[in-house]
Amino acid sequence: MVITMNDFEQYIQKDMDESRAEQMWDNKSKSFYERTEKTQQQFVREFVFTFIKERKLLNAQSRVLDIGCGTGRHLLEFSAYTSYLTGIDISSNMLAYAKEKLQHIPQAKLIHGNWMNTFTTENEFDLVFACMTPAIASIEHIQRMNMIAKKYCMLERIVYEKDTVQEEIEQRLGRKLFRLPHNDKNYVYGVWNILWLMGYCPEVVFDKQVRSTTHTIEDYMRDAAYTDEEKTAVTQLLNAKQKDGIITAEESVVKAIILWKKEKLPC
Ligand SMILES: C[S@@+](CC[C@H](N)C(=O)[O-])C[C@H]1O[C@@H](n2cnc3c(N)ncnc32)[C@H](O)[C@@H]1O
Repeated sequence: MVITMNDFEQYIQKDMDESRAEQMWDNKSKSFYERTEKTQQQFVREFVFTFIKERKLLNAQSRVLDIGCGTGRHLLEFSAYTSYLTGIDISSNMLAYAKEKLQHIPQAKLIHGNWMNTFTTENEFDLVFACMTPAIASIEHIQRMNMIAKKYCMLERIVYEKDTVQEEIEQRLGRKLFRLPHNDKNYVYGVWNILWLMGYCPEVVFDKQVRSTTHTIEDYMRDAAYTDEEKTAVTQLLNAKQKDGIITAEESVVKAIILWKKEKLPC
């Protein structure tokens, strides 16, 4: 039996209605910004930046594209190396945060739109980067990344996530809470195999972080589709755990970085 790229595409394709995607991300932008900004101090020490530094992937001339750049938090860190930065996102609300963050870098370009309708020039960027975005969800998307990259492509993904308080909520409700579909272990499996079958030599590195984190009751209520009955049960549980409005949880996160060079294997 011959295994083809299409067999692996199912691991990365997600049922996300594109026409509703912009609205969905616009609605999520405020909570995403607040959640990620809170951990900005930890963020600068993220493995992805250590990895880029160790591998000397960027220099002052590097042209970088961040697909689904969101609030621009990665672009801000990339600006330590280069000012030739481009970020694209379908959500104008996400981009509004990014514009504010990158206002001190006039060369940085922030584009509103679907990246597949925007970038078609071969070798346009030295590094094509995408973190936690459903924008890369097909063989065609990976082919396009390879086309517009001159040197490297990099994808970052959460492959495992646990929050002890969230687990208690799930136990109380007797069901799993909604997770964004693009944070999935099988995604990495699918992408790696597609790239391998295309003739690339992708590397996967993992980073595990376990840390104590604090949230408000609203943080656990927001974005969760609880029934009225569940809302009462969850509020009761969270009220019993909070101290001065703050709930402490232990969070475990495993992230994967997939890095590949544009150059294909000679075999
Ligand atoms: C989970 S957020 C991640 C944002 C950012 N990469 C980060 O890690 O902070 C996913 C982002 O992908 C964007 N996105 C989804 N589909 C897209 C597409 N086809 N083209 C451009 N951006 C897209 C969303 O609007 C959203 O801002």
